[in-house]
This record gives sequence, C-alpha cells and structure tokens, in this order.
Amino acid sequence: MFDKNQVIPIGADHGGVKLKAYLVGILTSKGYHFDDKGTYSEASVDYPDFIHPVAKLINEGRCDFGIIICGSGQGAAMTANKYPNVRAGLCWDLEQAKLTRQHNNANIISLPGRFVDFNLAVEMVEVFLNTDFEGGRHIIRVNKIPVIQ
Ligand code: RB5
Repeated sequence: MFDKNQVIPIGADHGGVKLKAYLVGILTSKGYHFDDKGTYSEASVDYPDFIHPVAKLINEGRCDFGIIICGSGQGAAMTANKYPNVRAGLCWDLEQAKLTRQHNNANIISLPGRFVDFNLAVEMVEVFLNTDFEGGRHIIRVNKIPVIQ
C-alpha cells in the first residue's frame, strides 16, 4: 500500500496542464501529496522543461514515484527515460498502469493529457501507486534495460 505521506512530483506541458490540475485536486482531497513542477497555464511551452525536474528527483532517489503528462504522453516519457534510474511507462488504461508496475517496475507514469478520460487517469494513478513489482523473471529483464556499452 502506497504511503500517502510520500511526496509525488508531477509535471506537465500545456497539453497536460488541465489533467495535472484535475489529478492534483482530486488526489490531494484523497490524502496524497504533490510537488507540482508546473506548467501552470495553457500557454505553449516545451515539455522537457517540466519533465526534467520530476525525472531528476526520481533518478536521484529523492522520491519513489512521479507523474508526467504531455498531450500524447510520448515526449514526456522519452524525456524521463533518458535518466538511468528512471523507468517511465506510458499508460492509457488500468491494465497498462498495473502491468508497468508489475512487469517493468516503472517509477514514473506518463499520461496522454489529450487522449484520456480524466477520471480514468485518477484511477490509473492510484492503481500505479498501489501495485507492487512482481520481481522474479522480471528482475532479470529490467536489469537488461540499460544501454550496453
Ligand atoms: C504539444 O503540442 C505536444 O506536442 C506535446 O504535448 C506532446 O504531445 C509531445 O509529445
């Protein structure tokens, strides 16, 4: 069970800012705590500027889980996955949110702000945070993800 006292960094561009506000509003009322890295308006911005701050916190081990959002969720995931200790999974339904934890030990959920129902996104985040990594054969696979030099 996720400890709701943990701070969850969250970042989005203009394509994800509405979903971010919705998630923070609903989930704060349910007892979760967020470190909101922006953006805070629908003015056009560059998604990496708001994803790097979240990914850095996860990469450095200062937070266990993060949430990133852009229009498609793709650019956000690509940015976060440049960090060696980050595993960001792009999720669009509850099964994906569960599997990326169980099989990939994802530590960031990437959401497509323009392509997902907001209430489903709330459910996805709760499933993501409360699903454990299965370990076993998946440890071997996750350990093979880093670039081969
Ligand atoms: C912004 O228009 C859009 O490109 C961005 O939110 C995201 O979808 C990029 O991957």
